[in-house]
Amino acid sequence: MAAGSFRRSIASQLSKVLDLPPENLIKSISAVPVSKKRHVADFQLSIASVIENSSGDCLAQDLHLQAQQLAERLKCDSVVSAISAGPGTVNFTINRELLAKTVLQQVWKDGSEYGVKSELFSTVPRQKAVIEFSSPNIAKKFHIGHLRSTIVGDTKPENCSIGMRDYLQLNNIIFVSLPGNFIANLKVALGHEVVRINYLGDWGMQFGLLGVGFQSFGNKEKLKSSPLQHLFEVYVQINKAAEDENIKKLAKDFFRKLEEHDEQTLSIWKQFRDLSIEEYIRIYKRLGVHFDEYSGESFYQEKAQEVLKMLEDKGLLQKTIKGTGIVDLSEKKDLSTFSTVMRSDGTSLYITRQVSPSVLITTFHNKSCAIANAFFRLEYKADGSPVTVLDLAAAIDRMNKHSWDTMIYVTDKSQSNHFQHLFQILKLMGYDWAERCQHVSFGLVQGMKTRRGEVIFLEDVLNEVRSRMLENMTSTKTTKEIQDPVETAEKVGLAALIIQDFRGLLSSDYQFSWDRALQSRGDTGVFLQYTHARLHSLEQMHGNAELTDVNVACLQELDAISVLQHLLRYDEVLYRSSQDLQPKHIVSYLLTLSHLAAVAHKTLPVKGSAPDVAQARLCLFHAARSVLANGMKLLGITPVTQM
Ligand code: ARG
Repeated sequence: MAAGSFRRSIASQLSKVLDLPPENLIKSISAVPVSKKRHVADFQLSIASVIENSSGDCLAQDLHLQAQQLAERLKCDSVVSAISAGPGTVNFTINRELLAKTVLQQVWKDGSEYGVKSELFSTVPRQKAVIEFSSPNIAKKFHIGHLRSTIVGDTKPENCSIGMRDYLQLNNIIFVSLPGNFIANLKVALGHEVVRINYLGDWGMQFGLLGVGFQSFGNKEKLKSSPLQHLFEVYVQINKAAEDENIKKLAKDFFRKLEEHDEQTLSIWKQFRDLSIEEYIRIYKRLGVHFDEYSGESFYQEKAQEVLKMLEDKGLLQKTIKGTGIVDLSEKKDLSTFSTVMRSDGTSLYITRQVSPSVLITTFHNKSCAIANAFFRLEYKADGSPVTVLDLAAAIDRMNKHSWDTMIYVTDKSQSNHFQHLFQILKLMGYDWAERCQHVSFGLVQGMKTRRGEVIFLEDVLNEVRSRMLENMTSTKTTKEIQDPVETAEKVGLAALIIQDFRGLLSSDYQFSWDRALQSRGDTGVFLQYTHARLHSLEQMHGNAELTDVNVACLQELDAISVLQHLLRYDEVLYRSSQDLQPKHIVSYLLTLSHLAAVAHKTLPVKGSAPDVAQARLCLFHAARSVLANGMKLLGITPVTQM
């Protein structure tokens, strides 16, 4: 890694002066971020961290003075051409030609692995990671807390019809898929083995309703052509009809037959499930998302009983007066925190909640009724978390099957308690690996609405962003030369959604805005795509740069140096994202890279320059494009070559 060889060289000189091993110093040397006030220095050593490294008693001393004293004791060499002191830092400037040569060579040589091979990752062992994400519920009610996306309008639970919420869920797939996809991509890029799991909500009373609903309102053709939408419509209709006690009873019977594995009932359920998955796969494909495994709650139905037995054998399962099964999670064992794992009739619950006893009683009073509304209201009174015995079964099964080193669940933040409880129970059961489970949560997206109106299905969102993008492209009259404008518009549009989604912390909520997302200038996905396409066409126009005969002396302008300095920082940025699993570090890095490249593109023309200048600049732009493309792909964006 380019930055690595510089860090090592600086560290080895420092190590002699400070009498510390170079390995301890490397971590304290970081590439200086390029800002508007252009920095001359490329690296800085933080004095505070070195002092911490050596001994604590220097802490009170003036760091600036320390920095000055240290700077005076260091000498320039063939790598470092200038050394200066800043407030609490010693700054190093790399020999300009060496900087250009090393960075360009490294980007060239490492290609898609640039930054990944950095020694920053050398102490991180290769791991096997199971990453569970997206996990939609097939035709199931969806409470607001689960949503990454909220339609404008009154979405308070009590004012919201079932239809609206379900529908929100479908739309939400886009957002629930993106963070998990990013984490999986990043892990793969860093050399880890990744299993991507989609844990479908494919079991439960909603299938009772759906089964009955299909008999009255279903249409086989529609089910085949657009299963998600059709099942949803059927579900909305049957929910209305289910105010009638007879219908409720029928639904209950249907689900009971399903639980008893009645062949015919199972085959109807299987058809709903299979067709839904087919459609999910098609939509995921548009998003550039794929899964290695589609599992789901249905799969763990049978194992649930085993898990309950295990809980019982370990003395963890307690019965309430109402007959529900709970696990005490409180420290003092006074039931101040507990998790419900079993219905009073002995069956496992998909979602049970840690709620106050009165709510618990009402919940179970209602347990037999399939009215999602009733459940829904309860969910909102409950400030607890849903814990499911199926999740226990799934976690154990995944460990047996994959022997993973780390398992990451990516869901909206309303489920945090659920996962904390899940991990706690696993630990109580004696599974030490519970400590290697992690929940990564994301916040809500507010205010998403299409031109057609309130109602948003996921595909509507994708279609909307594509058509808006296409309009923008047509108005700038660039579409004429593009081979496949629709496909390009889709990729650029998706980039716009992804960048808007990833700019902040995953856990923060944000207000969705089409206009903001689709701006061609500014910090948007459109701008990244545009920059990538421009750099690509530059290479097309002038032929691919050859690195062999580059005269790096031609890359001494400030705008060229800024790009090089920024490229130097890529490994540190990847490292940060790999630590906290937040895409925002990479997003802001790529936006800066694009801005710097755009400036350089303007001030450092290739066309009309002397051959060696043109060649050197082409190499610089090639490197910028290559790193831009790498970063975009990690985020789940397919870089376009024309737009
Ligand atoms: N299907 C659930 C929902 O939509 C999310 C599942 C999250 N994963 C899990 N292992 N519980 O609310």
